[in-house]
Amino acid sequence: MEQITVNLKERSYPIYIGRNNLDLVGELMGKKGFKGKVACITNPTVGRLYGHRIISSLNKAGFETFRIDIPDGEEYKSLEWLSHIYDKLIEYKMERLSSIVALGGGVIGDIAGFAAATYLRGVPYIQVPTTLLAQVDSSVGGKTAVNHTMGKNLIGAFYQPKMVFIDVDVLKTLGDRDVKAGLAEVVKYGIIRDSKFFSFLEYNYRDVLGFGDGLIYSVKMSCAIKASIVEQDETEADLRAILNFGHTFGHAIETVTNYKELRHGEAVAIGMAAAARLSLKLGVCSKGVVEKIEGLISKIGFHVKLSAISCQLTASGLLKAMEIDKKVAGGKINFVMVEDIGKTAFRQIGSADFPLDLLEILN
Ligand code: NAD
Ligand code: GLY
Repeated sequence: MEQITVNLKERSYPIYIGRNNLDLVGELMGKKGFKGKVACITNPTVGRLYGHRIISSLNKAGFETFRIDIPDGEEYKSLEWLSHIYDKLIEYKMERLSSIVALGGGVIGDIAGFAAATYLRGVPYIQVPTTLLAQVDSSVGGKTAVNHTMGKNLIGAFYQPKMVFIDVDVLKTLGDRDVKAGLAEVVKYGIIRDSKFFSFLEYNYRDVLGFGDGLIYSVKMSCAIKASIVEQDETEADLRAILNFGHTFGHAIETVTNYKELRHGEAVAIGMAAAARLSLKLGVCSKGVVEKIEGLISKIGFHVKLSAISCQLTASGLLKAMEIDKKVAGGKINFVMVEDIGKTAFRQIGSADFPLDLLEILN
């Protein structure tokens, strides 16, 4: 198994990455000093596929184990279902040294992580991410949250896991479209931080999507890049915001399409291409940089322009969707720009800067 460490002094933790290694979770938790009861939080989809392997691995290692299911879907990343988790943790008499295993995609990771952050003022938890997005992004870095009726991820905490355990083979039960959507976040790491990794993806994206060795390498590189950013800025005071590259446009696209038409990664892919075009327009990068970014994104099979899908978006609708995004400060939107492949810059853009035509850039 490959191993990376997220270095945060006494809160440092390992990320293990391998193939067909799910059955080793219990043994490894035993070796790492976890004790007592373990609650595995999952949903029926992932639980049916992998719950038994995690539970029997934990039982074999001597843990007393419970499974808590919440329904499958973003709408269940809610205060109501968080409360259901607390009820179950109390019913099972989970204690301070008991731990939580989050088995699932980003939805499960976020809600289980927030339950761990708050139950008994904090219990240890480990992430076992089962989507590509969760393996390369949401399981690493300690952002935990539930949604509020007024918006996504509005209630949450920074709370780091004790371990991240990645088995890339579990991605084989995801649809091709979901795996590909996750690849958008992988491409993002190359753009924001590592031109060599970007080139690797230009040549090897097919191998990555085909579950070849490039997949393990890409997950490892993505986690290492995210770890290095989180180590420098755990609570997103400044640097960590570069992880939002393409997401300001992306979130606006998701909002106006009601989160239905596109996968998150597909919206982010258009968002990254648009962020590159905006960088060119503002003189931050050269045309060559935009061509490279659009080239890789479209080679993988994503759209680079919103006009490619039937989406009725007005300039004011776009601005409104961007303004309700959390990345707005003092009335200005903090855009992550690309200077070169592997290098970013920030630009604050407010209404006064318009008629900068963001809609034209997106289309
Ligand atoms: P998801 O968790 O909803 O998973 C997508 C679908 O795939 C679900 O139906 C799930 O049941 C299913 N699934 C998961 N693993 C599977 C597997 N191996 N085989 C078959 N089906 C499987 O979606 P996601 O894209 O993983 O995560 C999105 C969530 O992540 C959002 O709530 C977002 O806010 C959050 N997020 C958090 C962070 C962070 O830093 N904490 C970062 C990015 C996104
Ligand atoms: N997904 C963005 C972050 O973790 O900061």
